[in-house]
Amino acid sequence: MASTKIQVKKADLKEGKPVGLDVNGKKVMLVLFGGKPYAINSVCSHRGGPLEKGAMNGNVVTCPWHSAQYNVENGNVIPQTPWGKHQDSYKVKVDPDGSIWVDA
Ligand code: FES
Repeated sequence: MASTKIQVKKADLKEGKPVGLDVNGKKVMLVLFGGKPYAINSVCSHRGGPLEKGAMNGNVVTCPWHSAQYNVENGNVIPQTPWGKHQDSYKVKVDPDGSIWVDA
């Protein structure tokens, strides 16, 4: 895993509004939750739905295709939607100037 500085800055993110990114060829969903950015694999483990287009409720994102739900803090599928499998989650670091680094 390499730490990559992404184009998006923390000030560009809105609480609970995911964005989709390509980081080193990996599709990543980045979202601000509780004022902190979190990154998980954005390709749903069920059938490849785009999690960056999913709705957020608290720390949970819902896949727009068949509603699997994932905790964005660790990528884990929630037990109530077992058709999804745990998503990879990536470490995120924010510099004092608001630049964001993602380990993906
Ligand atoms: S593709 Fe995400 S729940 Fe089916």
